[in-house]
Amino acid sequence: MPYGSSPVSDRPRVLPPNDPRQYDDLADEWWRPDGAFAMLHWLARARAALVPPATRPDALLVDLGCGAGLLAPHVAGKGYRHVGVDLTRSALAQAAAHGVTPVNGDATAVPLADGCADVVAAGELLEHVPDWRAAVAEACRLLRPGGLLVLDTLNDTALSRLVAVEIGERLPTVPRGIHDPRLFVDDRELIAECARHGVELRVRGVRPEVGGTLRWLVRRLRAARRPPLGGGLSPSGGREPRIRPTWSTAVLYQGRGVRRG
Ligand SMILES: C[S@@+](CC[C@H](N)C(=O)[O-])C[C@H]1O[C@@H](n2cnc3c(N)ncnc32)[C@H](O)[C@@H]1O
Repeated sequence: MPYGSSPVSDRPRVLPPNDPRQYDDLADEWWRPDGAFAMLHWLARARAALVPPATRPDALLVDLGCGAGLLAPHVAGKGYRHVGVDLTRSALAQAAAHGVTPVNGDATAVPLADGCADVVAAGELLEHVPDWRAAVAEACRLLRPGGLLVLDTLNDTALSRLVAVEIGERLPTVPRGIHDPRLFVDDRELIAECARHGVELRVRGVRPEVGGTLRWLVRRLRAARRPPLGGGLSPSGGREPRIRPTWSTAVLYQGRGVRRG
């Protein structure tokens, strides 16, 4: 049953926007391809495409705010040891089951050594962290010289609040109340903050493909009216929508930058 459509007695508790306990309430949704976190699967695929294969043995990818490890299948085979840092233990347990080495901790104070990481990923994290600058400082601290930072987040614009919260959280792709738009991250401020910590970040706008997303939504709404399928089949079936580059960073954007030597 989709999140938010259960009978009154089973309804999830109502928590303040961005309250991390929401991830415990939604723990069963992480790995459902058509569940409340569906769009995170699409974004994880697009983020992983920014990560090249490892160039040395024992290369380390640190995944800040890894959640249930949705990045794991997309970077498996690239030659990294995948370490995930997250506040939410229920999510980390699932990440561990998908091959991620779990570290329970805060992205603003990561218990890992300076320069340990060949790649740091921060997917859909910064817009959830009250002090995103501290998380950026940590991401840059963890990178070895020449190491790669990849991230995606929501911009601090009126359009982003409209699209990601007012519209997005009414669709089955994003859980309602998961964002606090006051935490959204201005792309120019993020670039400046990364530069202060030795990482030249380049950003580009991204968005879900239109046709594929509309087809997915129709399939998803139809499937919600049918009884669940057995055998782990996706109720909506079909290919998941792809995340595409777009001309504007005003809503959702990716960043990629290398740490100076
Ligand atoms: C929107 S989810 C993204 C999860 C994952 N990166 C993905 O794309 O599938 C945000 C995650 O960040 C975690 N999180 C939020 N604030 C955090 C913090 N300060 N330190 C570590 N993790 C945090 C949450 O527990 C949650 O798992």
